[in-house]
Amino acid sequence: VSTSTSQSAAAARHFAFIGGDNGIWRVTQAETLIGETLASAPRLEIAPAELPAGDAAAHWVLHGVTSNDRYVERSEKAALQAVQAGLGRPAAFCAALIPIRKTATWWAMTQDERREIFQARSQHIGIGLRALPAVARRLYHCRDLPGPQPFDFLTWFEFAPEHVGAFDEMLRALRATPEWHYVEREVDIRLARDGH
Ligand code: HEM
Repeated sequence: VSTSTSQSAAAARHFAFIGGDNGIWRVTQAETLIGETLASAPRLEIAPAELPAGDAAAHWVLHGVTSNDRYVERSEKAALQAVQAGLGRPAAFCAALIPIRKTATWWAMTQDERREIFQARSQHIGIGLRALPAVARRLYHCRDLPGPQPFDFLTWFEFAPEHVGAFDEMLRALRATPEWHYVEREVDIRLARDGH
């Protein structure tokens, strides 16, 4: 019983990002920052991974699972929780899907070495906090899945059109940090929800 419970709990955290002809998200722009590009797709569907994709013509499917925090400390978690907004706000009909892969060097480091780069040297949380609550976010991990995955993370952001500038500014700041020296593949896909 405990095995099937943990399997279904894992399934509930597992999502498929399907680039193709379906889904409520329309792709408005896509840019490859570094590494191999991703085929273009007109729309994006985000579906629980256990459901059949239903899009035989999918151009690509990326899988990710939500997970526990790896780096945040208590005070940072409190600071985030005090200001962060949830996904699905009606006014936040713009989104960004940014799949990221980090280098073997990054993954060969220890957790404390990675945290040192992520926060002490790069201020990832501090930079990100500047865009809150305008930007809502969710991080999906790919390395927790069985089998090789094309990316290590699927990062997802939702914001209103008047906050695109703040989002882009925050992105520029993050990409200029030491953490991004360890990014070897990054694709920036911008989307708008149907009806907008
Ligand atoms: C909206 C503002 C943002 C905030 C508040 C924020 C905050 C965070 C936090 C707290 C974590 C650590 C989670 C943990 O403890 O495991 C994290 C991880 C991460 N964030 Fe952000 N972030 C933001 C924007 C971004 C953007 C724009 C990107 C991509 C371009 C990004 C990419 C990532 C990645 C790839 C990780 C995983 C790092 C790793 O485990 O190596 N973040 N972020």
